[in-house]
Amino acid sequence: MNELALTNLTLSHFRSHLTTRIEVDARPVAIFGSNGAGKTNILEAVSMFSPGRGMRRMAAKDMARRPEAIGWKLTGLLSSQGRVHEVETYSEGEAARLVKIDGKPAAQTALGRLARMVWLIPSMDRLWIEGAEGRRRFLDRTTLSFFPEHSDLSLEYEKAMRERNRLLKAEVRDAHWYAALEAQMAKSGSAIYSNRLKALDRLQEAQEAAETGFPSAELVLMQSEGEMPETEDDFAEALAESRFRDMAAGRTLVGPHRTDMHGVYAAKGVPAKDCSTGEQKALLISLILANARALKEELGAPPIVLLDEVAAHLDADRRAALYDEICALGAQAWMTGTGPELFAELGGRSQLLRVDEADGNSHVTALV
Ligand SMILES: Nc1ncnc2c1ncn2[C@@H]1O[C@H](COP(=O)(O)OP(=O)(O)OP(=O)(O)O)[C@@H](O)[C@H]1O
Ligand SMILES: [Mg+2]
Repeated sequence: MNELALTNLTLSHFRSHLTTRIEVDARPVAIFGSNGAGKTNILEAVSMFSPGRGMRRMAAKDMARRPEAIGWKLTGLLSSQGRVHEVETYSEGEAARLVKIDGKPAAQTALGRLARMVWLIPSMDRLWIEGAEGRRRFLDRTTLSFFPEHSDLSLEYEKAMRERNRLLKAEVRDAHWYAALEAQMAKSGSAIYSNRLKALDRLQEAQEAAETGFPSAELVLMQSEGEMPETEDDFAEALAESRFRDMAAGRTLVGPHRTDMHGVYAAKGVPAKDCSTGEQKALLISLILANARALKEELGAPPIVLLDEVAAHLDADRRAALYDEICALGAQAWMTGTGPELFAELGGRSQLLRVDEADGNSHVTALV
């Protein structure tokens, strides 16, 4: 089978883990332990095998084990597209993190091509009720899972926009200063927007195609004002036209950085923000599972799935439904919970790890 899995994981000086070895195979991994034991730290470590700052979105230096703070290192074997790659990612001192694949320095985008990953973490429980930024980030992570180049596009766009905003603040009026930056923003910005739309289409299709115990979410993109220009040329023109208004505001008011994602509980027609806490969580799980199914359909293998404390909010039936879907998907899902009873419905279909903390140091024990 064309599977994707992280095995032979080692964590060195990574948060509460001084030296931890985790021997697992491609089956789901259930991790339990007391509060503060170091469970989420393991999921965060796994998330560093995908591009970006990981699931807690921290600077590399914050992940270094304290008090030593000498940096950290993670290693693992990634089975992807029928090959096994040695992956190493580390940060020395306060430096940004680096990646090596099969012993050679690699860009983070390369990591994204090897390891598609999706995750759900407790702070996302407030996704539907808080600001647009969190929803945009969720949307972009989903998009990135389909299009590994999406992170580079976002960097290009942000960089050009920062420079344009600097000109706006300095009240530069001369058009020729803006032309190249706006052309760059139009190019990457339209690609960002069209990738997002394609990603939403795939989620929608995957939700419609599936028999699932979780409710479907309808997702629509909206601009905080006006419309997103449809083509690259329209966007470049809109930026040029908006210069004086943007100058008054001191920032760029048009573009994909002003997009919000509106969600609706499809069966009820109720906006996600008005749904109950449990319903909001179920919608997110539904989207994560749809994302995973769509990736499996496209690439032949499901992504690695990280579910931090997902079991805690679900009743036993929903929990069983979630585990059944994960097993049907065949994904290496890394899940955490405070006690082993939360994983009872998984039975022998997963690998069980216990994490204990002693003297500020996490220890992992594999249970059979
Ligand atoms: N940079 C660091 N150096 C050393 N320890 C750290 C660092 N960052 C976090 N920790 C410690 O790691 C411990 C475990 O954190 P983690 O979030 O993994 O716990 P958890 O097992 O998920 O707990 P919970 O059930 O409460 O979610 C915490 O006690 C925290 O103080
Ligand atoms: Mg935790």
